[in-house]
Amino acid sequence: MRENLNNKLYQLAKDVSKNSYSPYSEFKVGCALIDVNGNIYYGTNVENASYGLTCCAERNAIFSSFSSQKNLSVDKLVIYTPTKDVTAPCGACRQVINEFSNKSTKIILICDDKAKSIELSIDELLPYSFGRVDLNV
Ligand code: THU
Repeated sequence: MRENLNNKLYQLAKDVSKNSYSPYSEFKVGCALIDVNGNIYYGTNVENASYGLTCCAERNAIFSSFSSQKNLSVDKLVIYTPTKDVTAPCGACRQVINEFSNKSTKIILICDDKAKSIELSIDELLPYSFGRVDLNV
């Protein structure tokens, strides 16, 4: 069951990476997540000629969930990269993932053909984080 869900999220993340708009880096990333209510969202990276305006797959997946709901609590988030080894998300995405995660959220990094994968908690991915609690929210 768990393996099926992981496979489904992996396949979704891999499929959506094919839509990546990445003419500059040619690095096609895909992200698929399931929230605590069982809703699935996904996204890919979208680049820009003004490089700094690029938005990563992880943030696009998370932000897209707000088109259909008002809040997000991530249960599991899978990041696919077309690489031989796993690739960790950038700092900006770690901070955004942190906003919508809790202690049991699983972040799974998977490279091409599932050659390697790593499952992490948000505390492992972003130790000593800044978040809602620091603002007493
Ligand atoms: N990228 C992501 O989509 N996620 C990450 O966590 C790291 C980087 C994208 C942004 C850019 O389009 C390309 O990969 C190269 O940095």
